[in-house]
Amino acid sequence: MLGPVLLAASRSDRMRKIVAAAPVTKPVVERFVAGEQLADAVGAVRELDARGMEVTLDFLGEDITDPAEALRTRDNYLRLAEALAGEQLGPRAELSVKLSAFGQALPGGHDLALANILPVVEAAAEANTTVTLDMEDHTTVDSTLAILADLRARFPQTGAVLQSYLFRTEDDCRALAAAGSRVRLVKGAYKEPATVAFQDKREVDRAYVRCLKILLAGEGYPMIGSHDPRMIAITRDLARRFGRKSDEYEFQMLYGIRESEQERLVAEGHRMRVYVPYGTDWYGYFMRRLAERPANLVFFLRSLASR
Ligand code: FDA
Repeated sequence: MLGPVLLAASRSDRMRKIVAAAPVTKPVVERFVAGEQLADAVGAVRELDARGMEVTLDFLGEDITDPAEALRTRDNYLRLAEALAGEQLGPRAELSVKLSAFGQALPGGHDLALANILPVVEAAAEANTTVTLDMEDHTTVDSTLAILADLRARFPQTGAVLQSYLFRTEDDCRALAAAGSRVRLVKGAYKEPATVAFQDKREVDRAYVRCLKILLAGEGYPMIGSHDPRMIAITRDLARRFGRKSDEYEFQMLYGIRESEQERLVAEGHRMRVYVPYGTDWYGYFMRRLAERPANLVFFLRSLASR
């Protein structure tokens, strides 16, 4: 019940101010976010790399309302790509982007987002790495997949996220299960209407497994974005069944979530990529983490109560 309320709050400016002003917010946010500065993100990359993990970095921000902010997002990602080039990790450290932070929701937003993201994809390629397009609410999926197709014409390694809670996603998986494509499969983190998305968690899980089968049986490179032990076990079984070696797919988890499981998978020889968010605009990301797991919310409320 609380999940939808928190997801609605994740887009409320009023709630943003209240949560940001709460005295305990910062230490709780730090569980999920690597820090506010680029140097914090680079520190997290080094630390995760030393523990055998790969990373994908997210400069936090979304739903911008002014084209100047889109340019700031672009420039921050360009600085990030430059910093990663210096780390010389190649594809072990890639970038994740939300196109709404590049202007996708503004008038003429599709072309604006494409124009703003292109230099970032070019900079990533120069750093011998790549970019994955995060997926936001369902109204953005067509535009994001069209931008993906445009980018892949020049940079075929560009990846995208598909969300199993959307009815359309099995078809999108089929379309993207071709050689050279990179798809991160997730369950989906936004509040979506029953006209476009499964509402029952069990239905979302069943759809996730159907999508896993399509992607793992296909020719592309599947990236399994889930903390769910069942989905991880099913992935391993399916990978074996479809004859995929451990470097022909990867697991992905969010920074600060199930760290011992991340380490266990690496120790077993799996590829494990950690999604590392950083920056000051953490509110929407943080609220989605609270919404998807009551324990995260309880931790936050306990910290408030203990003040
Ligand atoms: P889910 O929340 O369904 O929980 C299932 C089980 O997993 C739990 O019962 C528990 O056993 C275990 N579990 C989950 N969280 C845990 C925790 N914190 N601690 C311990 N156990 C836990 N979404 C989106 O819409 N667009 C996007 O672009 C992305 N990108 C993205 C990247 C990466 C790398 C990840 C991992 C996730 C995303 N997501 C996302 C978020 C995704 O859609 C989803 O909301 C969350 O991953 C939660 O779903 P899970 O499959 O992890 O488990």
